[in-house]
Amino acid sequence: MSFGSGLSATTSVVLLLLIASLSFLPLSALAAEPKLRFGSNGEFKILQVADMHFADGKSTPCLDVLPSQVKGCSDLNTSAFIHRMILAEKPNLIVFTGDNIYGPDATDAAKSLNAAFAPAIASNIPWAAVLGNHDQESTLSREGVMKHIVGLKNTLSQVNPPEAKSIDGFGNYNLEVGGVKGSSFENKSALNLYFLDSGDYSTVPSIPGYGWIKASQQFWFERTSSKLKQATTPERTCTGACILSYSITRIC
Ligand SMILES: *[C@@H]1O[C@H](CO)[C@@H](O)[C@H](O)[C@H]1NC(C)=O
Ligand SMILES: *[C@@H]1O[C@H](CO)[C@@H](O)[C@H](O)[C@H]1NC(C)=O
Repeated sequence: MSFGSGLSATTSVVLLLLIASLSFLPLSALAAEPKLRFGSNGEFKILQVADMHFADGKSTPCLDVLPSQVKGCSDLNTSAFIHRMILAEKPNLIVFTGDNIYGPDATDAAKSLNAAFAPAIASNIPWAAVLGNHDQESTLSREGVMKHIVGLKNTLSQVNPPEAKSIDGFGNYNLEVGGVKGSSFENKSALNLYFLDSGDYSTVPSIPGYGWIKASQQFWFERTSSKLKQATTPERTCTGACILSYSITRIC
């Protein structure tokens, strides 16, 4: 499936938590040169792409297009659309929030992933991804898909945080965004983005349907967040108003 419904934001089961901490924390690992930072205009723009549902490229037809548009429409139209969006928006970061590939229609998961992320890779803009419920339904496991993704060019994705000894899912991590270069917080984290894997399907027979965030992930999130907050200067402590966006969609 591609194009039409493939680009709607309604079919992912992955939860992306974007939590802004406007408290200007010191960057934990990126003391000197953060990989992400606010631009000189004070903006940090994220292009979010959900549900590409990429499969076999040219041979995978489009869904949800008009009958007259079916001919000549394939996954390649999805790629062309994302390419146009990147050029139009010039984001600081591209975030893919799941169902990057549509497993059941993808004969080679690695090939489909490479093609799905190709527009982001070609743009040289940093990008990050998490998984949906369909990413592992081809030739790679959920762990295998995430491991493949982290090996691709320009990605800031991580399989899991190195400090978390045991955590559910694959694709749990956080990214810190530094302040404007030349400003007093150029070496500090002005924004923290948390990525959490909400799994694919429930394995609890009495609860049908999709998976969910587990206690181990909540524990990691709370610990990471409080660690970062400890480094906060008191007068700039962030309150609940810092949550930028919280999206969970679970249809499909
Ligand atoms: C898909 O891409 C082809 C080749 O560029 C184009 O001719 C066609 O109109 C596109 N289809 C849609 C529905 O945009
Ligand atoms: C940020 O780090 C760089 C490199 O270590 C340093 O030259 C600069 O003075 C620092 N900026 C501030 C505001 O501390």
